[in-house]
Amino acid sequence: MEEVKEKNKGKEKKKHPRLKKFLIILVIIIILLGLYIRFVGTLGIFVKEYGIHTNKLPESFDGLKIVHFSDIHYGTIVDSKKLDEIVKKINDLKPNIVVFTGDLYDESIDLSDKYKEEIKESLSKIQAPLGKYAVSGNHDYSNDGYSELMKNSGFTYLDSENELIYYNGDTPIRIEGYPSYLKDKPDYKSYEEDYYTISLIHEPDAILKLKSNSNLVLAGHSHGGQVRLPFIGAIYTPEGSKKYYNEYYKVNDKDLYISYGLGTSLLRIRYFDHPSFNLYRFFVD
Ligand SMILES: [Fe+2]
Repeated sequence: MEEVKEKNKGKEKKKHPRLKKFLIILVIIIILLGLYIRFVGTLGIFVKEYGIHTNKLPESFDGLKIVHFSDIHYGTIVDSKKLDEIVKKINDLKPNIVVFTGDLYDESIDLSDKYKEEIKESLSKIQAPLGKYAVSGNHDYSNDGYSELMKNSGFTYLDSENELIYYNGDTPIRIEGYPSYLKDKPDYKSYEEDYYTISLIHEPDAILKLKSNSNLVLAGHSHGGQVRLPFIGAIYTPEGSKKYYNEYYKVNDKDLYISYGLGTSLLRIRYFDHPSFNLYRFFVD
């Protein structure tokens, strides 16, 4: 009996150093992964380019370029320097139209007037000859003056409103925009004249609430999940993007594109999901 006990003791002694080694390696991996998703995953400003081929767009709009940016969450990983870089990158693409689909602010951050002034100066520099349009996101109700700030930066703020846009011809397209349905009460519209229609919404799941025959729906909010795993994709998405959260969907004959955004919410981390904005090039078939 004594001999057996001694043998078992020996085995236990050998087991412990292995377990210790394993735990140390695990802790190192977790720390490195944490540093990576905080400081490397959040780097860069990527442009995701999409070609939209359609026969529904008036011919005069062939070659149209729209830049769609979203979810800045100012003060998280986007500061004034980064915002200036974003603006420069947008202008370098020479878009005809620029749209913003909400969450300029972040509800965890109290923005002083000084910062709002900086944002205004930066966003004012965005150039788009056919117009700049914005809607609100759920975080934009956490600080005052979002719609004024966007208007003062040269954006048309669409609060359940629409506008017609003409480009080299007599047939216009329509752009409509709705505020965050999580924080506001959008008044979804339908129209008699059937123009090619672009809808701006913040939460992608709101696409199911639209009443217009819109052709192209642009949204943000999901951040693509912020943390994406290879072969799996997003592991968590917020309310309002439970059904739709990836880059593209076809929903009831509407093309839905979701920008994964430039900032972060909750945790300042991104994994396989660098900050980005979208560029759409239109081709009339
Ligand atoms: Fe957001």
